[in-house]
Amino acid sequence: MWSEDCLDRPFGPAWNPLYHLGGLGFFYYWVVAVSGIYVYIFFDTGLSEAYESVEYLTHDQWYLGGVMRSLHRYASDGMVVMMLLHMLREFALDRHRGSRWFTWVTGMPILWLVIICGITGYWLVWDMLAQYVAIGTTEWLDWLPIFGESIARNFLSPELLDDRFFTLMVFLHIAVPLILLLVLWIHLQRVTNPEYFPARGLALGSLLMLLVLSLIWPALSQAPADLARVPTELGIDWYYLAVYPLVDEWGAGTGWLVAFLGSLLLVVLPWLPPLRGGGAAVVNLENCNGCTRCAVDCPYAAIVMAPRSDGRPFEREAVVNTKLCVECGLCAGACPTATPFRRAKALAPGIDLADRPLAEVRRQVEAASAGLTGQRRVLLFGCDRSVPVEQLPLAEVAAVRLPCIGALPPSFIDYVLSRNLADGVFLSGCNSGDCHNRFGVHWTQERLAGTRDPHLRARVSRERIGQLWVSARERRRLQDAVQIFQDGLPTDPEDTPPPTREKAEEAL
Ligand code: HEM
Ligand code: SF4
Ligand code: SF4
Repeated sequence: MWSEDCLDRPFGPAWNPLYHLGGLGFFYYWVVAVSGIYVYIFFDTGLSEAYESVEYLTHDQWYLGGVMRSLHRYASDGMVVMMLLHMLREFALDRHRGSRWFTWVTGMPILWLVIICGITGYWLVWDMLAQYVAIGTTEWLDWLPIFGESIARNFLSPELLDDRFFTLMVFLHIAVPLILLLVLWIHLQRVTNPEYFPARGLALGSLLMLLVLSLIWPALSQAPADLARVPTELGIDWYYLAVYPLVDEWGAGTGWLVAFLGSLLLVVLPWLPPLRGGGAAVVNLENCNGCTRCAVDCPYAAIVMAPRSDGRPFEREAVVNTKLCVECGLCAGACPTATPFRRAKALAPGIDLADRPLAEVRRQVEAASAGLTGQRRVLLFGCDRSVPVEQLPLAEVAAVRLPCIGALPPSFIDYVLSRNLADGVFLSGCNSGDCHNRFGVHWTQERLAGTRDPHLRARVSRERIGQLWVSARERRRLQDAVQIFQDGLPTDPEDTPPPTREKAEEAL
């Protein structure tokens, strides 16, 4: 998206906040939790004491209690912003359909729980805004035929309201965030190595931003609640309370209908329309030695290692859960048996994609390179989610597309260069902070650098390998980079000295 490209320039892909929205959401959660514990120590749950205790924190203890209160509020707002952007982004990038439906659907209770946390929090301050929220919420709840008698009645006069209501609110305000944490844990059950914490610089920068905001614009209460008065002018927190003016306008029944239909629509989105699948990874036991690399590299926890079932002298074998598989092919890229050098007629690695097998990739590589001539022939590998490489108008460049660049075993690069199928190999794929399959680009970089198995053999000249990680819109950038790489290729292989280790690393 253009917004990501804009933020890539000042932040770089590693620190671009749009690539770390989930991690930032977690970070804000912890800031809210720590500041909330501090505020709770001084909070009094009495009807009149609640307001006073918050005022004490805000004014008498502004240097710590006031800052903590403000941090608590602004980090909560930040969490809502991160959550909504994260949700929008996963939707826009089509990371919610197919096997990913579970992570999307478990996001829905998160959405509601976060909003409930905010509402119960505003209630506790017991100022005019709290009064408006309390009456609005209870009237909204009263519309449902589940409560025997009206709960909004409690707010008709101060005599009807007692401290127990506050104790209940405090309980809810602590219990709901704990339930939220549990649901967040469930949310991430189908992704391996989720980002529980954003890049350190981003976390520190966000904390600093919240601190500065807390000092120059501290969170304040409104006038104390007075059930004898109807609040006329209120400063609403639009992150959490936007629904209240709408319900005032529409009425409770319409409010419930919109909330219900809106949630239902969001829940069924992964199936509108359903993702056409059927090409999940399949294990070929004959070639699986149980090394576990595919299970480690799978970004969606779709592979488990089970006890050997075919009597061969290996302890384990890979087993794919097709319901979890997103068909990215990273497992095939990780399998040590996935080498195009195999003489077997059909290249059949230990694990492969059912409808885009590596034997087909080898066939495409050979067919594409057969049409290349000259001394600067380039084989360009791309992926389904980044620039469509086959559409680049470049002379003496043949392109092969994979579902994800991480599906390419490094031995294919060796194969192309050592078999003289091309003079250079260029790898491209999604922006490095934002691989559609989470780790495709990252694993590829590590395999080329020799820090992850299977790694590219040292004998392969790094001068003949180029790489660029770009979004699908950066077609021109990729085209220029491939052109520059092609122009810089040494024309006589005899002139190319064997690379030193430093040079090889520099090239990566
Ligand atoms: C504050 C609330 C939330 C937090 C902290 C959070 C956190 C995360 C994290 C850390 C990831 C893994 C990202 C990665 O490491 O690649 C993730 C993935 C995901 N989240 Fe959330 N999430 C939240 C709310 C939501 C909501 C409300 C939705 C949508 C309804 C949602 C939908 C998704 C989806 C679809 C993925 C999977 C992306 C993929 O398959 O690559 N999340 N979330
Ligand atoms: S990477 Fe290949 S050999 Fe290793 S466990 Fe997976 S399928 Fe088997
Ligand atoms: S294709 Fe392989 S790596 Fe990708 S989700 Fe399926 S099993 Fe995991």
